[in-house]
Amino acid sequence: MSVHPVSSLSTTVLALRRAGCVFAEDEARLLHEAAASPDELSALVERRAAGLPLEHVLGWAEFHGRRIAVDSGVFVPRRRTEFLVAQAAALAPRRAVVVDLCCGSGALGVALATALDRVDLHACDVEPAAVRCARRNVGDLGEVYEGDLFAPLPVRLRGRVDVLLANIPYVPTADVELLPAEARVHEPRVALDGGGDGLDVMRRVAAEAPAWLAPGGSLLVEASERQRDVAVEILRAAGLTPRVRVSEELYATVVVGTARPVT
Ligand SMILES: C[S@@+](CC[C@H](N)C(=O)[O-])C[C@H]1O[C@@H](n2cnc3c(N)ncnc32)[C@H](O)[C@@H]1O
Repeated sequence: MSVHPVSSLSTTVLALRRAGCVFAEDEARLLHEAAASPDELSALVERRAAGLPLEHVLGWAEFHGRRIAVDSGVFVPRRRTEFLVAQAAALAPRRAVVVDLCCGSGALGVALATALDRVDLHACDVEPAAVRCARRNVGDLGEVYEGDLFAPLPVRLRGRVDVLLANIPYVPTADVELLPAEARVHEPRVALDGGGDGLDVMRRVAAEAPAWLAPGGSLLVEASERQRDVAVEILRAAGLTPRVRVSEELYATVVVGTARPVT
């Protein structure tokens, strides 16, 4: 759809409404704030009207009360995942060793590190674009590595991780086609597709997690309500003690698996 040069807020709202944006007023305000000139505003509105996620157009997403940079081709952190961060903050010891596995933009690790006192933060992802983005967000809060799951982490972290954040891809392959275009078209498939039942990556993470967790340390994963019981069994089979936490408000389900404490 072609968008006319935009000058007033109401014109922007109209252009966004025509393009099917549900929160056109809020989005228009953000785009006006972001644009340094009328030309830039036109370009931003055009990209949004063409279907790019608002966060990719703006270059940031709001997560846990702060702006997290999100580059094109990087998974946009979801507000419901703030619940996983809250659960992690509640169980983290002082000076926790935290790993943000499958970190995407690095939003979870950054949120937890800023919520807690003195965290030793390590984040990793397989996608180079995500790793670049996470490095910008994490800055001097921690280290970001590139590679498959645990492979790029320093060996010295084995048996020392207090909090293992893992918001992994968990959409069943057949359901990826049903996602809104913003995710299906503009987020990488590797960030979404969790295999047949959506839990393939979770199985791999759970199998390796006990070797990395400190005694009493916990793995936290997000799942859909439908996947909850299988996810619990995956964590139990890996030797972790599972429990489920649910937020009705954020429509979020988190499964926590805790390693045996020292006896
Ligand atoms: C659902 S996104 C979550 C990103 C981030 N944790 C968040 O919540 O915003 C899943 C992420 O897992 C990464 N990923 C998928 N498979 C991976 C693998 N085998 N090893 C490392 N990262 C992987 C993707 O690149 C993507 O960034």
